[in-house]
Amino acid sequence: MRLDNYTDDFFEVNNKNGFLPKKNPLSKLPERYNELQRLIYEMPIKKEDGSNGLLSKKGAIEDRINNLSNLKDLVNNEDDVFIVQALFRTYAFLTSAYLLAPAHFSYIETKKYGKAHTTLPAQVAEPFAIVSKKLDVYPFLDYHYAYSLGNYVKIDDTKGHEWENLAMAAKFSGMDDERGFIMLHVDINQHSPELIGGIFDYLNSNDSTEVNNSLKKCLSSMKKINERRQIMWQASRWKHYNDFRVFIMGIKGNDEIFGNGVIYEGVSDKPLQFRGQTGAQDNIIPTADIFTGVIYYYPSNDLTKYLLDLRLYRPKCIQNFLEDIKNEMGNNRLFNELKESNNEEGLCMLIQILDEIYYFRNGHWQFVQKYIMANTKYAKATGGTPIISWIPNQITAVLNYMDDVIGLLPQNSEFLNIKEFYSQLHKKRDLLNKQLKLLHLDKYKPDEVFSLNRKMGLSDK
Ligand code: HEM
Repeated sequence: MRLDNYTDDFFEVNNKNGFLPKKNPLSKLPERYNELQRLIYEMPIKKEDGSNGLLSKKGAIEDRINNLSNLKDLVNNEDDVFIVQALFRTYAFLTSAYLLAPAHFSYIETKKYGKAHTTLPAQVAEPFAIVSKKLDVYPFLDYHYAYSLGNYVKIDDTKGHEWENLAMAAKFSGMDDERGFIMLHVDINQHSPELIGGIFDYLNSNDSTEVNNSLKKCLSSMKKINERRQIMWQASRWKHYNDFRVFIMGIKGNDEIFGNGVIYEGVSDKPLQFRGQTGAQDNIIPTADIFTGVIYYYPSNDLTKYLLDLRLYRPKCIQNFLEDIKNEMGNNRLFNELKESNNEEGLCMLIQILDEIYYFRNGHWQFVQKYIMANTKYAKATGGTPIISWIPNQITAVLNYMDDVIGLLPQNSEFLNIKEFYSQLHKKRDLLNKQLKLLHLDKYKPDEVFSLNRKMGLSDK
C-alpha cells in the first residue's frame, strides 16, 4: 500500500511535515487584495500597534463589511493553493468577526453570549464559498486552513515552530493569550512528523525488533507532544480565554446564539450550519487513537458520532490519511499482533503510549475545567458539544484499554514496573469517578472538581 500521497499541495502528511503545511503559510495576501488585508490588520480588538481595532467598537466591523467590495471574480481566477488558503483564512475571519460581533458585545455587557447575526452579506459569502469550494471544505472558520495550522507567521524565520516564535497572520482579540492559545497547537504539531514516521515504520516492519523500534518512535513523539501541550498554562492565561472564545463558536450546536442557522447571501436561501473551530479538529489524538486501537473502546453514543462528524471538517488529504490508517489497523491489529506474538516489550511500549494519550486527555480535561467551566456557565463548546458530559468519555475509553493491556503483562516484567503502573491506573480511574460524581450534583463547583487533580497527585500544572 502506498502511504505517500496525502497532499493537496498545502498539507502533505508524511514523516517530514507531519500535519503542518509543506511550507510557511503566506503572512499576507497579494497586493491586489489590499482592501481585504487592511481590514484584517484593522479588525482585532487590539491592533498590532497597540491601539483599539474595529472589534473594540460596537457596529464598526458591520460598517466596514457593508462597504466591502465583492471580489468574487478576482478570487475565482486564483489557482495557487497558498493564495487560495490565505483567502479562505481571510474570509473565514471576516465571517466569524461579522457574525459574532453582537454576541461578543452582549457578553461584555451581560456576561451572556446573546445573539449573532444570521445573514452573511454577499460580498463576503460569495467569494468565501468560491475559495471553500476550491479547497473542498465548508465555508466556515476551521482549524487547518484558517485559525491554527495555516495561520502562523514565523517571527524569526531561522528558528522553529515554538509558539514564542509564532505570530498570527489573522486574529480576533490580538492579545497575547489568543496567540499563545492557538499557536501552541501549531507548536505541538512540530512533533507530529515523528509520530507519523513511527506509524509508517510499523506498517513496513518485518519482525518484532522493527515493531518495537517503531513503537519507541511513537512513544518518543507522544512524550514531546505532551510536554509542549502542558505549556498551555503559561502560553495562554485561563482567565483570558473568553477574550476571544466567542469568535471561534460554530453555528451547529450553538442554537442559542445562531437560531436555526445563517443565510449566506447569494449562496444559499436556506440557513446553513457548520461546526466551530476546535482542537478536536487536530489530528494527533485521532491518529494515536486509530493506530493504537483506542477507537475500539470508544463508547457508542452521540459524542463519538460527533468525533466522526468532525472528520468531515478536515482537509480531504487528511481525511484520506486517517481512513487508510484505520483500514490498515483494522480489527485492533496492533493489540492482537503484540498479544499473539507474545511481544512483552511491545506491549509495554503500547501501554506507555496509551498512558501518554491518557495524560494528554487528562491534562486537556483540566484545561476544560479551568478555561471553560471556571469561566462560564454556557455548557456548549465552540465545536457545539455538551462539554462536561463529553470529554470524560474518551478518558474512560483509554483507561479501559489500559486495563486489557496490563492484564497481559507479567508482574515481574523486565520492561516496566507493573505494580506501580497498576496502582497509578487505579488512581486515575478513581480521580475521574470522583470528578464525575461532583459533576452530577445539581450545582457543581468547578474549583472543587479542579482541586481534586492536585489532591490525587494527577495535576497537569
Ligand atoms: C486551553 C486549551 C484548550 C481548551 C479549553 C480545549 C477545549 C476543548 C473542548 C471544549 C473540546 C470539546 C469539543 C468541542 O470543541 O466541541 C475539545 C476537544 C478536543 N480538543 Fe481541545 N482544548 C484545548 C486545547 C487543545 C489542544 C492544545 C489540543 C491539541 C493540539 C486539543 C485537542 C482536542 C481534541 C483531540 C479534542 C477531541 C476530544 C478527544 O478526542 O478527547 N485541544 N477541546
